[in-house]
Order: sequence, then C-alpha cells, then structure tokens
Amino acid sequence: MSRKALIAANWKMYKTPAEAKAFVDAFLPMVAGHTRDEIALFPSPVLLPTVIPACKGSNVAVGAQNIHFAEEGAYTGETSVGQLMAVGGTHTLIGHSERRQYFAETDEIVNKKLHTALKHGIVPIVCIGEVLAEREAGMTAGVLKKQIIGAFAGITPAAAKPIVIAYEPVWAIGTGKTATPEIAVDAHRIIRAEVAKLLGADVAAAMRILYGGSVKPDNANALIGEVEIDGALVGGASLKPDSLAAIVKY
Ligand code: 13P
Repeated sequence: MSRKALIAANWKMYKTPAEAKAFVDAFLPMVAGHTRDEIALFPSPVLLPTVIPACKGSNVAVGAQNIHFAEEGAYTGETSVGQLMAVGGTHTLIGHSERRQYFAETDEIVNKKLHTALKHGIVPIVCIGEVLAEREAGMTAGVLKKQIIGAFAGITPAAAKPIVIAYEPVWAIGTGKTATPEIAVDAHRIIRAEVAKLLGADVAAAMRILYGGSVKPDNANALIGEVEIDGALVGGASLKPDSLAAIVKY
C-alpha cells in the first residue's frame, strides 16, 4: 500500500505575524508544484489568521498545534475546534509530548480531543513517543501500545481513516539526537501492528505514521525514504523556509 507522505511543520511558540507572513511568502514559491508529498504548517493560534489566508490556494495546509475537546466553554487560554475551523484551519496536532509534559495531557484527554477533531472533519495528528528512561528500561513497545490504546478508545475503523500518527521519541525532540532509521522503523512497526489489532489490517496499512525528533535536511531522506516512515513532523528545522523546503524535497 502506498501512502502519501506528509511533511508537517510544528512552529511551537515561535514567530510573530510579520515573521510568519515573511516565511510563507518565501516558502510557497520554493515548494510550488510539489505534489509528491502533502505539506502542512502548524503555527500558534494567534498566527492562524495571517498564515491561512497567505497559504490559500496553495499546496500548503494549515492547522493548530492543539485544540480543546469541548465545543466551547469557560476554558481560559484554550482554542476550540470551531474557532480553528472558522479561520480556515484543516488539521491539528493532538497530544504533542510538550503538551503531555508541561500541560499534563493524559491519554484520556488525547482521546477526547481525537473524537472532537474527527467529529468536525479536522485531520488529527496524534503524537506519541517514549521518554529516554522508558527506552533505556526496555519499555518502548509497552509505552507506545498504551498510548495508542488510550488515544483510540471508542474510535471505529470507519472513523479512523483521517488519523495520522506521529512517532516522536521524546529524547530526540530538540536535542539534535535523531533516532536512527532502524530505531524509527522498529517503533513504526510496533505502532502499525497495534493499530491493526485495534482497527484492522486495512486501516493500519493505510494509516500514515510520521517520524519527529531532530529531523533536518541532511537526515530527512534516510528517514522518510524508509517504507515504514510516511513523512515527518519537524520542529526547529521548520522555522526557516529553505530548511523546510529542503526537507519537503528529501
Ligand atoms: P525538533 O524537530 O526541533 O526536534 O522538534 C520535533 C517536534 O517536537 C515536532 O513536533
């Protein structure tokens, strides 16, 4: 089964509207006509009204780094899926390790957010991955399985089609330490097997699993070139147009 790769740029808490606009103006011509892979940018909520119109009509989609699971309500500082859709966002990250680590997001919260995104037709990128101590203790497979089972509770095979998974080993995020293609492929096989158990072989075979963690122009090809790796979720190296464009053209 051939899966179209997705190159996703997680800008985290970087860029002003002016910087975001300058990025898009430089980046779009660099990737114009590129159809081999899907491309999506994930800026902070305050940047969405700048980035989305600037990308309109291009081959670059735009999404949020996070949504709340509630439709609306008294949740100070949060963004609803309806608000994301109203400004034209089509994708969202869910359960990024920084959300889990600094904002106490649990598998249960990730699951609720996943249900909300799917209900509204927003493409969810569910992030999972082990921390260094878990890897060193030989717990990686168990951690990944637990995160998938938790995230996918109550999700039917028919509803699961749009879901993208991002495997981001926490020890490789922002550290310059990339998982080797072998380590990433191993983890992706564990993840795909677990999805097959939960949702069936067809859904698992079609589901895209991205790798994230210190992806750079010089290692993108070795990683995304693997059949098991269906694209990348890029942090630091996605902040400069030429660097992200080089990753897109891995
Ligand atoms: P880096 O590419 O900076 O390691 O970040 C990865 C990440 O967290 C993407 O979501």
